[in-house]
Amino acid sequence: MDAARLSRYPFVPGPVPLTVVGGEGVWLHTDDGRRILDGAGGAVVANIGWGRPEPGAAAAEVLQGYAYTVPPFATEPRVRLIERLVGKWLPEGMTRCLFVAGGSESVDSALRIARQHHVCRGDVNRTKIIGRSISYHGATLASLAVANHDRRRAGLEPMLADWPKADALDAEAVRKLVETEDPGTIAAIIAEPVSGASGAALVPPDDYLPGLRSICDDHGILLISDEVMAGFGRTGANFGIDHAGVVPDLLVGGKGLGGGYVPMGGVFATEAVVAPIAEANQSVMYFTFSGSDIMCAIADRVLRVMEDEDLVARAAVQGDRLRALLTEALGDHPNVADIRGRGLLMGLELVADRSTGATFGGRLSPKIVSEALERNCWIYPAGSAAVPDGILFGPAFTITDGELEQLVAITAEAVDAAVASLRAAEPASA
Ligand SMILES: Cc1ncc(COP(=O)(O)O)c(C=O)c1O
Repeated sequence: MDAARLSRYPFVPGPVPLTVVGGEGVWLHTDDGRRILDGAGGAVVANIGWGRPEPGAAAAEVLQGYAYTVPPFATEPRVRLIERLVGKWLPEGMTRCLFVAGGSESVDSALRIARQHHVCRGDVNRTKIIGRSISYHGATLASLAVANHDRRRAGLEPMLADWPKADALDAEAVRKLVETEDPGTIAAIIAEPVSGASGAALVPPDDYLPGLRSICDDHGILLISDEVMAGFGRTGANFGIDHAGVVPDLLVGGKGLGGGYVPMGGVFATEAVVAPIAEANQSVMYFTFSGSDIMCAIADRVLRVMEDEDLVARAAVQGDRLRALLTEALGDHPNVADIRGRGLLMGLELVADRSTGATFGGRLSPKIVSEALERNCWIYPAGSAAVPDGILFGPAFTITDGELEQLVAITAEAVDAAVASLRAAEPASA
């Protein structure tokens, strides 16, 4: 694309790294003829791979004789998607579905529903949501408030609700926080089963999510599992929380639900969450385009492809392979503090010096990403306060062994090149 047209694209004027014209499998095609290995599946949205015919076919079917319908009206694509989700995907007991257009909307809606649930029960003092110190839940003001991604909150803090954050991935610490805050003031606890953008695929200890479940049960608090990144097969199970054998009260999803082919998100709940709202004769306010037919039809088709091709199991297998390759290539690397994750949600934590824990304070991960892009590979920058520099991998579940090898080889080169260039430019901070 010529420079004059390109300059119109970014909202805030600046460089545009790539112009993408299409894709196939785990490859993005650019207008200047490059093939970019999509190691992050875009923003960790790809699961069935690019260039598939099925989503387009589903969209074409819906658009025959199409009419927009407000979300309270039923349509065949909406009901069919609910049937598939409840029948085959959601944890046992999660039977109510509300569709939205992405992860932030799903989190924001879940917070609203949690509050509405308590108000409808007459429990009106529950106004707080407990989040945690390493977390990201989206870019609306409420989803930023409940999370703690320092760089994404910067400057907005006075506009964000001041909700408590638990410091560690330690259920006992959360219990203490809940007790200090007064459990009767808490509407919900929200947690990512594997932290994505903020913590570079940080996996909690095995007793963490069961611990949160029991705190919530003890105090009448709702547990919200944020599965926007970890959900829909990404971790090698339907949902990240499934690994812990825990059923939340509310589960929010986005990203992989539409496979990157359509903006899509959802809030999923148990009957017990929704019952007081129904008993109070209330409804949950919708967005105009919540669960549009095209979104539901494409999401339904993406899920069907995953079922037909057993792609959740493949995410587990290829995730193990990716972990082994990363460990072989980078396990002893002086700038790699940790290799972690679950399934095909894997991450690296990066430092300036592994022996001292000194970091580059957030400057290393963007540099690694740009070095990888120069080598025709897209990986995702991650990190916030306690984890200043991280890299996320989240390729399509269809990725082959050879493509995983290429991904790891390029990442290793990019880490070395980025560290060398930062060292040449400036000293590390402690
Ligand atoms: C765990 C989690 N929740 C919520 C969101 C927000 O989703 P979206 O960017 O689709 O609004 C993200 C996005 O990265 C996420 O990783």
